[in-house]
Amino acid sequence: MQRRKLVAGNWKLNGALASNRSLLEALRGSAYAGADCAVLVPFPYLAQAGEILKGSRVAWGAQDVSEHDAGAFTGEVSAPMLAEFGCRYVAVGHSERRALFAEDDATVARKMAAAMKGGVTPILCVGETLAEREAGQTAAVVERQLKAVVDGPGTALFAQAVVAYEPVWAIGTGKTATPDQAQEVHGQIRALLNRWGVEAAVVPLLYGGSVKASNAASLFAMPDVDGGLVGGASLVATEFLDIWRAAAEAGTR
Ligand code: PGA
Repeated sequence: MQRRKLVAGNWKLNGALASNRSLLEALRGSAYAGADCAVLVPFPYLAQAGEILKGSRVAWGAQDVSEHDAGAFTGEVSAPMLAEFGCRYVAVGHSERRALFAEDDATVARKMAAAMKGGVTPILCVGETLAEREAGQTAAVVERQLKAVVDGPGTALFAQAVVAYEPVWAIGTGKTATPDQAQEVHGQIRALLNRWGVEAAVVPLLYGGSVKASNAASLFAMPDVDGGLVGGASLVATEFLDIWRAAAEAGTR
């Protein structure tokens, strides 16, 4: 079956009102109907993204969400708040959150459940470090990260989620997984989901890690790569638009 391709730009800790405006206006002005597109912006810019992108083909969202809906959790932002600002997506468990902010698998699974309950589609990020890959642990690490959802909130969550495979060694390093390496892990993820009783054919699996205009088409041509989670290249309008176009072209082949 043909899944719709999706490219999501993860701005990370980047942006300013003026530069955001030109980037968002460039995205709004061009649209590739053959694939979906979204930007994940820092929280303070959600209102700006909503104002500029409303009615366009570009969705917006956030990069993290609290596992709690409300209460005494200083500094947190909840899924109902994101929903109120029109967020369609939120990343959970990005490797930078896991490594720098000590988010463990169970916390990430609870964040995923909170997002879903609030009506925001979670993009669950998984992936191995270089040491784990070299030790032959890639499949085991990815399985452990996904299994936390099965053991916690439950497999039903996958039916309406997006999963992003992002090998940590490929993030921001310029070292992309080869299309074959990405396909191998994406195939394993889909098989795992099937084994857990999820209708895996409908779950979009994005690849992330140094996706650029120059490598996007070959990655998106792989049968189980349904698009990309794009960091650095999503900050440059022409580059991100080329990646979106590559997804649209791959999606309509
Ligand atoms: P990158 O980041 O494209 O800059 O490697 C990807 C990500 O962290 O989502």
